[in-house]
Amino acid sequence: VIVPVVLSGGAGTRLWPVSREGHPKPFIKLPDGKSLLQKTYQRVAQLGIRGDILSVTNRDYYFQSKDEFVSADLGTHYRPHFILEPSGRNTAPAIAVAALSLRALHGDNTIMVVMPADHLIKDVECFTETVHHAVEVAKQGYLVTFGVRPLTPETGFGYIECGAQIDSAGAAQVSRFIEKPDAERAAGFVESGRHLWNAGIFCFSVSTFLSELERHSPEIMALAAACIEASPAAASAGVLLQELDSDSFMAMQDISIDYAVLERSDRVAVIPAGFDWNDIGSWGALRQLVEPDEQENRVLGEAVLIDSRNNYIYSEQRLVATVGVNNLIVVDTPDALLIAHPDHVQNVKKVVHQLKSTE
Ligand code: GDD
Ligand code: MG
Repeated sequence: VIVPVVLSGGAGTRLWPVSREGHPKPFIKLPDGKSLLQKTYQRVAQLGIRGDILSVTNRDYYFQSKDEFVSADLGTHYRPHFILEPSGRNTAPAIAVAALSLRALHGDNTIMVVMPADHLIKDVECFTETVHHAVEVAKQGYLVTFGVRPLTPETGFGYIECGAQIDSAGAAQVSRFIEKPDAERAAGFVESGRHLWNAGIFCFSVSTFLSELERHSPEIMALAAACIEASPAAASAGVLLQELDSDSFMAMQDISIDYAVLERSDRVAVIPAGFDWNDIGSWGALRQLVEPDEQENRVLGEAVLIDSRNNYIYSEQRLVATVGVNNLIVVDTPDALLIAHPDHVQNVKKVVHQLKSTE
């Protein structure tokens, strides 16, 4: 059995003020009116693996997530299971409880395809082929990652150093996995030609994942098992709804799968991704989705731009006017306005940190 697992419980602080607690990145509507989560569900449907889809998300996003699932319009071939977290503890706990829950549902040999809901992939056909290849490699006992050719020394990604070939179709062992290196190391990795970006999509069997988790992060393994034990699943018409027990879930360390397992494991494999991949990680990436006009301005919403070039305007309600300014990112929402320089969009998260610390 192959089960897509969709993760959508992260906050996405670099897209403030549109992405917030209660309305995080996967729910943001793109220029075509669809959300990243809806697109993720549609990508799942293209895999041609009918049956179960497991979403792990915050309990506050349950109804929004179900709406997105309905809007994705996948037909009647899917059972949309949900595991609901009391609060995000990052991806290692989320994937751990998903794996344990799937073991109870379908057994140890279940193959999980873990998909973040904060990416854009246009070439769905190639994506589908690559996932099916990954499933074959996962059956050999690997934790399979998808590698993207790095373009810039981005510090917000994991880097994969490729090792020995596994098969003639391009799968390779990973000799090292480095999560979010500093700028200097990232630059070295890009130059080396031996490193790929980690796309954040994973494929492995329940048994491989749980035994690597047990080996490298035994506390999380034990606490996740206790949490699942304490969280009875309500199933109706074969659809699982599992609200996680708060105390045991929150006892787990807040850590991503990249740090908790991938950096430490020697069972990691990589498949180079032939598909395009866009991590909608910042306003810089979101800006690229809008067609520029003759002055290189990109506008979503209502705006009047006089003597202004190369600006990005995103306005939810109000009219935005600029006069004689260039190279700005302007994001207007009913209760907050962001004005940023394109070179500094990674630091938008600092606004959120500062707001939180003064709360
Ligand atoms: N359910 C749940 N609970 N989902 C979560 C949680 C959580 O606590 N935290 C994050 N997620 C979801 C996010 O919504 C997103 O869809 C996905 O898991 C990845 O989390 P991010 O927080 O966006 O991770 P990242 O972008 O910093 O890093 C990961 O992705 C990069 C590529 O975009 C890593 O895997 C990097 O190595 C990778 O390069
Ligand atoms: Mg991300």
